[in-house]
Amino acid sequence: MPVLPFARGVSLRSPWWRRLPLLALLLLVPAVAAAQTYPQSTLIPKGDFADLVDGVFWTTMWWGLLVFVLVEGALLFVIFRYRGRPDDPEPEQVHGNTMAEILWTAIPAVILAMIAVPTVRAIFKTYEQPTGDILKVEVVGHQWWWEFRYPELGLTTANELHVPRGKAVSLKMTTTDVLHSWWSPQFAAKRDVFPNRSTTLWFSARETGNWSGQCAEFCGIQHGRMGFRVIVDEPAEYDRFIGTLRASAAPPVRADSTGLQVTKLGAQAPGVAPDPLLAEGEKLFTNKGCIGCHSLNAAKPVGIGPNLAGIGSRTYLAAGWLENTDANLARWIREPQAVKEGVLMPNLGVTEPEAKALVAYLRSHK
Ligand code: CUA
Repeated sequence: MPVLPFARGVSLRSPWWRRLPLLALLLLVPAVAAAQTYPQSTLIPKGDFADLVDGVFWTTMWWGLLVFVLVEGALLFVIFRYRGRPDDPEPEQVHGNTMAEILWTAIPAVILAMIAVPTVRAIFKTYEQPTGDILKVEVVGHQWWWEFRYPELGLTTANELHVPRGKAVSLKMTTTDVLHSWWSPQFAAKRDVFPNRSTTLWFSARETGNWSGQCAEFCGIQHGRMGFRVIVDEPAEYDRFIGTLRASAAPPVRADSTGLQVTKLGAQAPGVAPDPLLAEGEKLFTNKGCIGCHSLNAAKPVGIGPNLAGIGSRTYLAAGWLENTDANLARWIREPQAVKEGVLMPNLGVTEPEAKALVAYLRSHK
């Protein structure tokens, strides 16, 4: 009895092949569930680019299914209809059949053409950049996070790309270090990003929501945690988000004793005495060196670490890895190397009370 490697140690009273239907069923269950449950499924397109990809998938799928049913059906028919019996005479021996050869060449050629034509057409379409009323976004991959710039607005954000529903978005993408690949399954396909070169992608989203995306090119030990979110807003909500980024660039900005520019202290009304916890957080943000890599001003990106304008209202931290709760933010600040080993952000020896103040300060930026 053959023992499959994966079944070693499992009692196999019946031959392994009798379990195949069960195995197929087990594989089918997650495949069906994936369509609705799994956040990064390509099977639930929510935009025009993804529809093109989905169309190619289903075209190939249906032709493949048709071939499978016809070929397997013919095979089963022949096996049962012409099966050998003990006293059968020697069957008639045939050598060559021109008609059969023409048919088995022509039919697959036609089927391949039926798949190839829409596929090639879709590939060309995915490289056509949209024109007219479009939103331009520059995407920059970093180990291991994503920078999103709105060049027409002079604003930068990180890891959460807000776009208005229904508007064509044109992405121009590059990276500052190694190869990455930008993949937003519901809206667009994967496209690699390269240093010193730019690649493009486009999509327009037809459904609002917060959708997960992922780096899809191995780029180091935290490749798996190089996620991002595409947040599709109603136009008014999108304008409100852009307003938040704009506000991060607005005064009051003052210089502290070190001469460094210190961004505004949260969103406090002028004339109101600053909350001591926020003031402490603001001081720590400078003194602990956070300010060396992270800007809280969307109009003045530092580019070493993610821009933190609007961090208080982001949904995730650490490039889509942790939900943006106070506890997670404190943990991420205190021990980044334990949360995402190998990231540029070092453990700075931030104490628990210090983390609390920093969290309060960052949370006020929304
Ligand atoms: Cu970046 Cu994988």
